[in-house]
Amino acid sequence: MRIQVQGISKKYGERMLFSIPSLEIGSGQSLHLQGENGAGKTTLMKILAGLERPSSGSIILNGIDSRSWWKRPHYKVIYLHQTPFVFSGSVSDNVRFGLGYQFSSRRDLDKRVEAVLELAGLTQLAMQEARTLSGGEKQRLALARAAILEPSMLMLDEPTANLDAESIKIVTEMVTSLSAQECCIMLSSHQKTSLTQLCQRQLQLKAGQLLEVFANPEYSKYA
Ligand SMILES: Nc1ncnc2c1ncn2[C@@H]1O[C@H](COP(=O)(O)OP(=O)(O)OP(=O)(O)O)[C@@H](O)[C@H]1O
Ligand SMILES: [Mg+2]
Repeated sequence: MRIQVQGISKKYGERMLFSIPSLEIGSGQSLHLQGENGAGKTTLMKILAGLERPSSGSIILNGIDSRSWWKRPHYKVIYLHQTPFVFSGSVSDNVRFGLGYQFSSRRDLDKRVEAVLELAGLTQLAMQEARTLSGGEKQRLALARAAILEPSMLMLDEPTANLDAESIKIVTEMVTSLSAQECCIMLSSHQKTSLTQLCQRQLQLKAGQLLEVFANPEYSKYA
């Protein structure tokens, strides 16, 4: 899996928010996106996830332009909002919802839902009404709902902002497991946590430019 950013820019009226000549992200890579409030992190992640259009340029995934991804539903690029959204129904229903009818048997589906709930530390809460979860629990649920889809790339916008140490540990384990399945992770975060330490690359959006501030030499195979 390879995502290539080809000369994208984003403008709001006369304001040029950013201009990024090139960026390549390979399978299983994890990136920490930094930048001050208003630098454009959320906008960039939404553009990479195909939720917003750049003002110019394009995003290519495995050689295919983002405008055609919808024709290839197995290329799943998911953006998770900082304030997680939950559907009415139980925690388990919420996770199941993502998969719909993709699984051939009810048994397969149940197994998969159970495994993801376990990974998210939500097994005990499986039957609880999802809307009654705490902020941190909702964050883990949103991640579980994304994880069950086996995404190719996952954008996490401030995923640890509301989390305590134990939840950060669980989210770190979930992200590690997704990375091991070759999922690319991009996360924005103002705090340094076990999750940001896991990232092989650090990018910074500053004054409209994207700078690579750190690349862990251990991961030079991705360079
Ligand atoms: N639809 C829009 N019209 C005009 N300006 C916008 C629009 N959407 C975002 N902006 C502006 O673009 C800038 C970047 O916003 P963005 O949400 O991407 O920043 P961010 O880096 O995620 O900030 P934060 O750390 O606060 O989450 C902000 O100054 C914002 O006001
Ligand atoms: Mg933001």
